[in-house]
Amino acid sequence: MKKTSLFLFAGFLAVTAPHRPLCAAGPAREARNDRVERAIDSILARLTPEEKIGQLLQYSGRWSDTVVNRGITLEERALIRQGRVGSFLNAFGTGITRELQRIAVEESHARIPLLFGLDVIHGFRTTFPIPLAQAASWDPAAVERSTRVAAREASAAGVHWTFGPMVDIARDPRWGRIAEGAGEDPFLGAAMATAQVRGYQGRDLSDPTTILACAKHFAAYGAAEGGRDYNTAEISERTLRDVYLVPFKAAVDAGAGTLMASFNEIDGVPSSANKHLLTDILRNEWKFDGFVVSDWNSIGELLNHGIAATRAEAAQKSLEAGLDMDMASDVYRDNLPALVKNGKVSAKILDTAVRRILRIKFRLGLFDDPYRSCNPETEKSEMLTPSHIAAAREMARESIVLLKNQSDLLPLRRDTKTIAVIGPLADNRHDPLGPWKGLGEAKNVVSLLDGVRNAVGNSASVLTARGCTISGTDTAGFGEAVSAARCADVIVLAVGESMDMSGEAGSRSTLDLPGRQEDLVHVIMGTGKPVILVLMNGRPLAIPWEAEHVPAILETWFLGLQTGNAIGDVLFGAVAPSGKLPVSFPRTVGQVPIYYGHKNTGRPDTSNEHFSSRYIDLPSSPLYPFGYGLSYTTFSYSDLTLERQSLGTADTLRANMTLTNTGQREGDEIVQLYVRDLAGSVTRPVKELKGFQRVHLAPGASAIVPFSVPVASFAFTGLDMKKKVEPGSFILWVGPSSVGGEQTTFEVVER
Ligand code: BGC
Repeated sequence: MKKTSLFLFAGFLAVTAPHRPLCAAGPAREARNDRVERAIDSILARLTPEEKIGQLLQYSGRWSDTVVNRGITLEERALIRQGRVGSFLNAFGTGITRELQRIAVEESHARIPLLFGLDVIHGFRTTFPIPLAQAASWDPAAVERSTRVAAREASAAGVHWTFGPMVDIARDPRWGRIAEGAGEDPFLGAAMATAQVRGYQGRDLSDPTTILACAKHFAAYGAAEGGRDYNTAEISERTLRDVYLVPFKAAVDAGAGTLMASFNEIDGVPSSANKHLLTDILRNEWKFDGFVVSDWNSIGELLNHGIAATRAEAAQKSLEAGLDMDMASDVYRDNLPALVKNGKVSAKILDTAVRRILRIKFRLGLFDDPYRSCNPETEKSEMLTPSHIAAAREMARESIVLLKNQSDLLPLRRDTKTIAVIGPLADNRHDPLGPWKGLGEAKNVVSLLDGVRNAVGNSASVLTARGCTISGTDTAGFGEAVSAARCADVIVLAVGESMDMSGEAGSRSTLDLPGRQEDLVHVIMGTGKPVILVLMNGRPLAIPWEAEHVPAILETWFLGLQTGNAIGDVLFGAVAPSGKLPVSFPRTVGQVPIYYGHKNTGRPDTSNEHFSSRYIDLPSSPLYPFGYGLSYTTFSYSDLTLERQSLGTADTLRANMTLTNTGQREGDEIVQLYVRDLAGSVTRPVKELKGFQRVHLAPGASAIVPFSVPVASFAFTGLDMKKKVEPGSFILWVGPSSVGGEQTTFEVVER
């Protein structure tokens, strides 16, 4: 580093800010925050308008054409020297990030460190299960650990910032991005959002093993009409606030330093120009003091939306709405200089956006050490370590959901002689990485076939056949698959989706098994041998035939590097499955959207009444409900008691319930607490999750499971659009899923 920059940074050494929560109280914190704000004042005073605008620009090559693949171009060097880049997208690796950073802090007039962003969604090199799978663990501590590993690896490769967690509620499984989030429920979604923000950001963002989180996509992106990606979200302000915004608020409360604006519009206003979302709610109501980045080209897309006639108008609307950084559209770069110069955009608004970005750079400690994560030794030693791989296996085991286990077919007996592992996902190391695989590589994936072989060693013979591809129409491989099945004592049949059938732009119009896989299931079932269906997919699939006919079904989603070992652990009973569905599985796509927390309607489907809210050709209920999942043991629920049946709005509800392991094996149960608010100023969902706990019990053992639920958590947006708890009668359930369980009632009174 040159002398001049040393001097510059020395001035900032004392002002690295704490980060959690971002708007933290406490005199020491306030003093440090004040010092940061004063440091930002002096930076702003010396920057030219062009350099200020530079901070708002996230530079990216196009897709594979990034600095990592082709090195830094002369043009890029010049842009950084001129202070026209605030952040780089898809730049990682200590060599390249150190060099980019060196140019920024040593050769530019602005001398402001760059921020390196990358999509680290479920792991960096050690690929963990996709986020939907992780949510199926209902284990926020495990999710925090897996996210911490992702942060350690990514930060060791020079990455400062991830575009995660994705906290979009998704109630339509046609939408491919359901794979990236925590499913349909705001309470579970909020728990997962908090866990991921903590995992990425650690205790203090200035710790170089952390990365900055970005809660996305703000907001209601998952409500895309028809499940078609990027489509319009047509939802009410109340549903927005009570459902879709809940995990975002949790992420902000957990200290997430950034948010990403979504592609979609809500009520006629695309998020990238939505002042109500980005300023009224996010800044004014929630007091968020980090910054907001656009989604890829979403400012430019304001023209397609038809809310800006020119790119200049798009730039103005976005910045004025509260969108601070432009990802990849170049709209800010090309238009803000003139808009600021001619006074159409005020210098104050520009300064506010720059301030938010600089504040986060301070919190990351970049002004103290711009090379905070540029150590090639650490870059080597942090990747794919045995403890990271062990964490991936642990997370994958917990993500598996046992949907059916007729006659206790599972776990498989260790003395099984011949096992046939069949299907297009049996010997597949590519697709189990899932969408947004990061830097995960197929060569490091343990396939299902590998996992079964690892589990049985030499004690059984393992046959395999693909049968068909995932989406092709060729059935020529069926014969070989049937022959393998006929020679086996048991068949593990792995079917599902390819990794690119979910994730961004991965919407589907059906939820069936793609290609000829359904036929493959039929012919294998035709052999009369016992079959365990292993599903690998990024969304709920509609599998009514399989649910009825196949004796055992495991939902394994996309489990990442340790796929085969984790499934092997479950198949052979090293662990009992314990995951529960974070999203309802419909019987057919025609039931979509289907979610447990729906409204009752005036004519609920509670009987065979013709004029009720139902289908004439299908039950209204899902195939597998939210919260559902079996174990190798069984649990009974009894003695649900409440400390008090009458509570004030500021009280805490305390419930106890006895859980007993009534089976022959040890196991984990996820005990779930739901409430129903029977009457309000506006209608309320028929059930809302308000608590859950993972409980481990030995066979025959019982435990009292205590819940403490603040009555404040029953608040909702009333007729007056204010969020509060309304007095009245409630039903409370504690049970194994969103269906059934022990039930009681309580009252909330005004006091
Ligand atoms: C996606 C974001 C992602 C961004 C950067 C966009 O297309 O919608 O989720 O973070 O690209 O890769």
